[in-house]
Amino acid sequence: MQTLRLNANNREDILTAAQILRDGGLVGIPTETVYGLAANALDGKAVAGIFAAKGRPMDNPLIVHISDFAQIGRLVRKVTPEAEKLAKAYWPGPMTIILPKSDKIPDEVSAGLDTVAIRFPSHPAARALIDAAGIPLAAPSANLSGHPSPTAAEHVLNDLDGRIEAVVDGGPCGVGVESTVVTLACDPPRLLRPGGITLEQLRSVLGTVEMDSAVLHPLKEGVRASSPGMKYKHYSPKANVIIIDGSFDAYRNYVNSHGGDGTAALCYSGEDAELTVPTVCYGGEDDYGEQARELFDALRRLDEIHAKTVYARCPEPKGVGLAVYNRLIRAAGFEVLHLD
Ligand code: TXA
Ligand code: MG
Repeated sequence: MQTLRLNANNREDILTAAQILRDGGLVGIPTETVYGLAANALDGKAVAGIFAAKGRPMDNPLIVHISDFAQIGRLVRKVTPEAEKLAKAYWPGPMTIILPKSDKIPDEVSAGLDTVAIRFPSHPAARALIDAAGIPLAAPSANLSGHPSPTAAEHVLNDLDGRIEAVVDGGPCGVGVESTVVTLACDPPRLLRPGGITLEQLRSVLGTVEMDSAVLHPLKEGVRASSPGMKYKHYSPKANVIIIDGSFDAYRNYVNSHGGDGTAALCYSGEDAELTVPTVCYGGEDDYGEQARELFDALRRLDEIHAKTVYARCPEPKGVGLAVYNRLIRAAGFEVLHLD
């Protein structure tokens, strides 16, 4: 099929995308976190198309996107006071809340679980599209399964051109990593995936919030994932990524003495001048927001330069940096080398 290129700033294009979605088609849409691959969340057949286009395992549930808090009512069994408090503080924005689902949610969306993940994005085009379509939209990140999430329309096309009806170009994403996922289906609430809303921000509203062990560690053999997405190898460039934990001096010495065919460095801005291998930068050392914004594009650029082995600077797992660390550690298959 021919994938239509639509413009987020053009009202006609938004209406065209909305009609495709109402007709059961798939559309790549901009959000403030990453681009999503959207379909009508209430239509199991349309949702099944998402899994086929991405090559996504069917047991990995999807997030349902809404454009007004009131829309959550018919999607979940009960809107709890915790959900109301979180929504008031951080919606619209880069946070996803998990609650027991209502019977309106097709099994394709929840992948057989009795819960559903809901997000109210802040991106104006995403909101306009949900409004115009008049339906909630199920949308995972708009990448081929296993690839880095797309933070530009061009990334979506690189992965899915010819496999989806349209993509709406809304420019680069402001947050750059996927939403924070918090489940309220257990007590105390638990962080399943770190993102643009930090653990500290969740705790300031809810009090105790546990961090799922899969945020920082590989899943142990035989343990059931609280969030099925956590068990898959993710965000991987084709190269073998190794995270180097240590000072810049130690990193530079290591990288410069291990350079070879296909070796590249994933470093902080400004560090490239001191490295003797090809480099891709992903933001300033102390600027976690910039690291988040640039990480996925940096991983895609490493593929473009045909890197085979990538030595990556180790992100500081603080604030939004926890999300950067969580994504990069998965891209590295949890391989960390400690120096110093
Ligand atoms: O920022 C985002 O969240 C982006 C944009 C497009 O909104 N979406 C996104 O979707 O990242 P996806 O499918 O790539 O990641 C959703 C994550 C997966 O790890 C999935 O397993 C988890 O959320 N998830 C979804 N529903 C769940 C549920 N009911 N229980 C536990 N985990 C769930
Ligand atoms: Mg994804």
